[in-house]
Amino acid sequence: MNFQKRILVTGGAGFIGSHLVRLLVKKYPQYQIVNFDCLSYAGNLENLKDVQNETNYVFFKGDICKSDEVNEALTNYAISDVIHLAAESHVDRSIAGPMAFALTNVVGTMQLMEVLRAHWNGNFENHVFYHISTDEVYGSLGADGLFTEKTAYDPRSPYSASKASSDHFVSAYHHTYNFPVKISNCSNNYGSHQFPEKLIPLMIQNIKSEKTLPVYGEGKNIRDWLWVEDHARAIDLIFHQGKVGETYNIGGLNEWANIDLVQFLCQLMDKKLNRPKGSAEKLITFVKDRSGHDARYAIDATKLETELNWKPSITFEVGLEKTVDWYLANASWVDHILEGDYQAYYENQYHKR
Ligand code: NAD
Ligand code: TYD
Repeated sequence: MNFQKRILVTGGAGFIGSHLVRLLVKKYPQYQIVNFDCLSYAGNLENLKDVQNETNYVFFKGDICKSDEVNEALTNYAISDVIHLAAESHVDRSIAGPMAFALTNVVGTMQLMEVLRAHWNGNFENHVFYHISTDEVYGSLGADGLFTEKTAYDPRSPYSASKASSDHFVSAYHHTYNFPVKISNCSNNYGSHQFPEKLIPLMIQNIKSEKTLPVYGEGKNIRDWLWVEDHARAIDLIFHQGKVGETYNIGGLNEWANIDLVQFLCQLMDKKLNRPKGSAEKLITFVKDRSGHDARYAIDATKLETELNWKPSITFEVGLEKTVDWYLANASWVDHILEGDYQAYYENQYHKR
């Protein structure tokens, strides 16, 4: 088929990547969407069951750190644009083992850009390399203020240091080679299909199975939560209408201290599970704090709102209820992860044919 664009989405089998792939596949039948993912522990093709047979969707199992695999995908599909989400994404894992974060997030991003530079052969017009990043690169806020696109980078965890480093390389490729980059830095996402190691799905799962709810430190750390589908909509807008060479901040203006969020979730879950009021809250346990735990993140998304007319589509209360409903209705998705079966899904779907 003669597609208008052939977009490689790296990390498309992960949490945010799968929401983005679904949006692009459904909204743009005139584009081919190539999901390039190595299926690390966080990659799960079950996330994309509903679009896997669409004619404009393809899955390519590949590693951004391996130039031959990147090259094969770029050549086979004559890739015109890249939206890059593949990464190691969990702060706690980065504290336990930082090296994988440098290799995937920094070296992998460079490897990808190097192969692309050769593939596009200096003809960068009509191509986009869009790098998806995090607000954690800006460090930690005190009680006041918001991160803007001009805030100086001050990463504190191995995860945020690796993302900051990759952002710098992406910008450097633009300044040095005129490489056609866009970058966005987003706050914490929540929604369906998030790996149950992150705060919200972990708490939902533990409440359901009546396990303790580990809140780090005093639970006073603050995060700015955004509905993952609103992030995917922002990426779509920036990809199409954002300016090359620019950075955009994305956030929900929705700050919650962890303990308040967990208590709110407890109340919601008690209702959903028809349990007596206060049942879930009894499971809250304050545990040893995360090393170097950033106190507060909060995003000023004025640039995105005013230049590209984006705003979050739903409130946190509505989004959180939808998220809880999804996890309760899709218990088998979590079970497959906990039992390790989700990684066999690829073999069954793609190697049986
Ligand atoms: P995730 O961990 O759910 O998914 C990451 C995906 O990347 C997985 O499918 C994994 O298999 C794939 N991957 C990992 N290493 C790879 C490699 N070497 N080659 C190919 N694929 C590889 O992550 P997520 O939460 O969806 O985050 C996606 C991106 O968005 C990341 O770059 C992250 O830094 C960024 N981000 C995340 C959040 C958030 O709240 N989750 C917020 C802002 C930005
Ligand atoms: P997380 O979902 O890991 O995202 P990030 O570290 O990228 O912000 O954690 C969100 C917040 O919740 C963070 O302040 C750490 C805290 N947290 C807990 O208190 N307990 C937990 O079990 C987890 C996973 C996180």
